[in-house]
Amino acid sequence: MIFYLLLLILLINFSNCTNNLIYSITSNNLPSEGQIINIINPINNDILFNKTIVLGCVINGIASIDESEMTATVLCDYRDLIMINLNNGEFKVIGSVYSLLPTFASKMQQFIYSDNMIYLPVSTKNIDNLSLFSYNFNSNTFFVNLLSTKDYNYTVDGTSIGGFDYNINKMYILYSSDRNNSNSNLISFSVDDISNTLTTYESIENLNTWLVQLLFTNNQGDLYALYGNPETLSFEVCLFKLQSPLQNNSCSYVFSIPISQVNVSFSYLHAFLNEEKQQFTIVLLGENNSIQFNTYFISNFTIVNQYNINNIWGNSNIEQTTYFYS
Ligand SMILES: *[C@@H]1O[C@H](CO)[C@@H](O)[C@H](O)[C@H]1NC(C)=O
Ligand SMILES: *[C@@H]1O[C@H](CO)[C@@H](O)[C@H](O)[C@H]1NC(C)=O
Ligand SMILES: *[C@@H]1O[C@H](CO)[C@@H](O)[C@H](O)[C@H]1NC(C)=O
Ligand SMILES: *[C@@H]1O[C@H](CO)[C@@H](O)[C@H](O)[C@H]1NC(C)=O
Ligand SMILES: *[C@@H]1O[C@H](CO)[C@@H](O)[C@H](O)[C@H]1NC(C)=O
Ligand SMILES: *[C@@H]1O[C@H](CO)[C@@H](O)[C@H](O)[C@H]1NC(C)=O
Ligand SMILES: *[C@@H]1O[C@H](CO)[C@@H](O)[C@H](O)[C@H]1NC(C)=O
Ligand SMILES: *[C@@H]1O[C@H](CO)[C@@H](O)[C@H](O)[C@H]1NC(C)=O
Repeated sequence: MIFYLLLLILLINFSNCTNNLIYSITSNNLPSEGQIINIINPINNDILFNKTIVLGCVINGIASIDESEMTATVLCDYRDLIMINLNNGEFKVIGSVYSLLPTFASKMQQFIYSDNMIYLPVSTKNIDNLSLFSYNFNSNTFFVNLLSTKDYNYTVDGTSIGGFDYNINKMYILYSSDRNNSNSNLISFSVDDISNTLTTYESIENLNTWLVQLLFTNNQGDLYALYGNPETLSFEVCLFKLQSPLQNNSCSYVFSIPISQVNVSFSYLHAFLNEEKQQFTIVLLGENNSIQFNTYFISNFTIVNQYNINNIWGNSNIEQTTYFYS
């Protein structure tokens, strides 16, 4: 009896600290080889789940993970929204759209997922325009918005990165300015009324979009960028100061995280936001072939936790991309 009581308490405790688990989905470019899902307890390096599932498509990223239901929702082949049961690997398609295929350069992008919508800034070879792909899995429809940029040239494709203020459905897209490589431009708009709210802020100095890993907002709506700085060998966070579309726009340094390498060549996303969007995690190569997960509060940039776990993913398998979540 007491034993069962203890077991029950253990189980309750375990489900209470599911927040501390690390989820990884490794996406194989060959759908027939399957998509690999791992769940790891970073405290003791225990692999709690390791399963290869054949979805018949290639996962493009994790939309969300519901830890109470133990399900992962992923976008597959830029077409299907699929819910995977993380207890047994069973899955079902919960939405499907007919869409164009985006063209990217090498920079990995994380799409924005909110209210059954997926937003993805991409290039469709439009000089002077960026394209925003919107997937609506409520109505199973797909839409492309052309966003006028004044100086965007698709030949410098792959350098845009999106951010989202989940409190007010406001989207930001940072892209490299064609006029000056060391500067960036920023588009902002409300996804509910794009044409009336579109604003472009030009010439944000000394922000090279190639090095930017993440755009995020705090609860007050302040916009930040996380980027690798090869000169100081650190990841840095800057706060956007946006004044007028044409001038005096900047992103000022606020915080720095020393690292041993800036552009590690592994095929993971280097940073991601957690489910509540109030923390971000930076993924780095640690010592002894370990992978380090450093999670910070967005509100004050203090560290939430830091874990070093065994590298079970390999370093630079270009046939695969690993998406993390924690
Ligand atoms: C996961 O399972 C596969 C197939 O059973 C195995 O080859 C692989 O080594 C396992 N991975 C880990 C990290 O244990
Ligand atoms: C760019 O988008 C605008 C509408 O936002 C459109 O009028 C224009 O034709 C587009 N340019 C190109 C080159 O497609
Ligand atoms: C786009 O960029 C390429 C390479 O930098 C350049 O050769 C081309 O002239 C540019 N096109 C426009 C329309 O600016
Ligand atoms: C590009 O912008 C930087 C400031 O960010 C400035 O120092 C540099 O002179 C500019 N280069 C050109 C070609 O305008
Ligand atoms: C931009 O900054 C310059 C000097 O730093 C100042 O003279 C100018 O008024 C500012 N412009 C705007 C629109 O704030
Ligand atoms: C970053 O990666 C590029 C391309 O892989 C490489 O040429 C460059 O040397 C790397 N820089 C650093 C600081 O590692
Ligand atoms: C890495 O491995 C070396 C040799 O096995 C060991 O001395 C060192 O403490 C390890 N470092 C960490 C951070 O585990
Ligand atoms: C930082 O913010 C988090 C939540 O936003 C809070 O729990 C934590 O106590 C804060 N830490 C410090 C040192 O202020």
